[in-house]
Amino acid sequence: MIKGSLTLDPKIIRQDFPIFQQAVAKPLVYLDSAATSQRPSKVIDAEMEYYQKYNSNVHRGVYRISVEATEAYERAREKVARFINARSPKEIIFVRSTTEAINLISQTWGRTNIQTGDNVLLTEMEHHSNIVPWMMLCKEKGASLRYLEVDDDGFLSLDQLDSSLDNRSKLLAFTHASNVLGTINPAKEMIRRAHDKGALVVLDSAQTTPHMTTDVRDLDCDFMAFSGHKMLGPTGIGILYAREEILDRMEPFLYGGDMIKEVHKDSARWNDLPWKFEAGTPNIAGAIGLGAAIDYINGLGIDQIRAHERAITSRALDMVQSIPGITVYGPKDPDKRAGLISFNIKGVHAHDTASILDTHNVCIRAGHHCAQPLMEKLGVPATTRASFYVYNNNEDIDMLIHGIEAVKGVFKL
Ligand SMILES: Cc1ncc(COP(=O)(O)O)c(C=O)c1O
Repeated sequence: MIKGSLTLDPKIIRQDFPIFQQAVAKPLVYLDSAATSQRPSKVIDAEMEYYQKYNSNVHRGVYRISVEATEAYERAREKVARFINARSPKEIIFVRSTTEAINLISQTWGRTNIQTGDNVLLTEMEHHSNIVPWMMLCKEKGASLRYLEVDDDGFLSLDQLDSSLDNRSKLLAFTHASNVLGTINPAKEMIRRAHDKGALVVLDSAQTTPHMTTDVRDLDCDFMAFSGHKMLGPTGIGILYAREEILDRMEPFLYGGDMIKEVHKDSARWNDLPWKFEAGTPNIAGAIGLGAAIDYINGLGIDQIRAHERAITSRALDMVQSIPGITVYGPKDPDKRAGLISFNIKGVHAHDTASILDTHNVCIRAGHHCAQPLMEKLGVPATTRASFYVYNNNEDIDMLIHGIEAVKGVFKL
């Protein structure tokens, strides 16, 4: 493919996103989709339609609109199951976010299965949401945390994975793609090696499921977590995937309505999967909105989305790296990285870079990206990060470069 030619047409795609249709003096250059994506009208409309036309609680009513709401909510679950190739919708639990999904695993499966003397293996590139729940569990249980190192090019070592796992390793929890380095980890191979050593695997797919094919059967992960708001869906809705036989053996996370079959004064019986893990009134509108987001992604084609982002990232990498005084973190090969680039301008704090870019209406993130152990490893307090999605085009990258030049101008670099 010619550098700069794109698989999707962002000009057409942007027409589906109200935020890009506003009459503004300067066009919005949104380069922060790794934090949260924008949402197309179809998603906003699906949520609004629920509230306006059949708003009612799910699973409880026999009247028409409640049946309609229940069907829409469960249809969204089926869409998620198909999207990640789960064996059954029973393996899809609606939660608030990736963070909640991982806490659910640590508080239920973790509390039952991790004992004193066991260990949990993480990597140095994890988001805090895939560190702190395991840290607290290990403290509670007298288990230990281990970390796979990130090398200078932003990669993990499979040899170190093998040597870090022993017969007390109960779990490997790792991110499919780093939200800072962009590194796409060889998840299938890592999962195979962990299984060979008898450990179960939690895959954090917050940065991959929105952007590339995720097939839980092919990956063979035991648990997977991702968030709706990073994949064109609403905030407050996320997914925990787990193999049915594991969910069957797990204790519930929260107790209350909807997650029970029957309750007596001194005892209760849990509901079937997946509802055993969905206590209380769920985020009905959020689930329906996520279903609409999946329809939208399927309409574009997930492989086309990956190809589009790869092309944008490749061009951006070339351009950013060619600016003197810039450090880019993570793999140099766009095939090995997700659609994001973290960098620092020598002599400029990441927050100053982001603030000056904001004056050009360019939205990029600055900070530790909830990955402080990785920042320690990189030896920096913060980075600036530009991240891409279906609506980004080459002009956005040009604006980023223009903004970086402006930062250098302000600091006389
Ligand atoms: C790799 C990764 N894991 C987990 C999360 C947490 O997602 P959420 O805030 O939706 O729970 C993020 C968010 O940036 C992330 O990038």
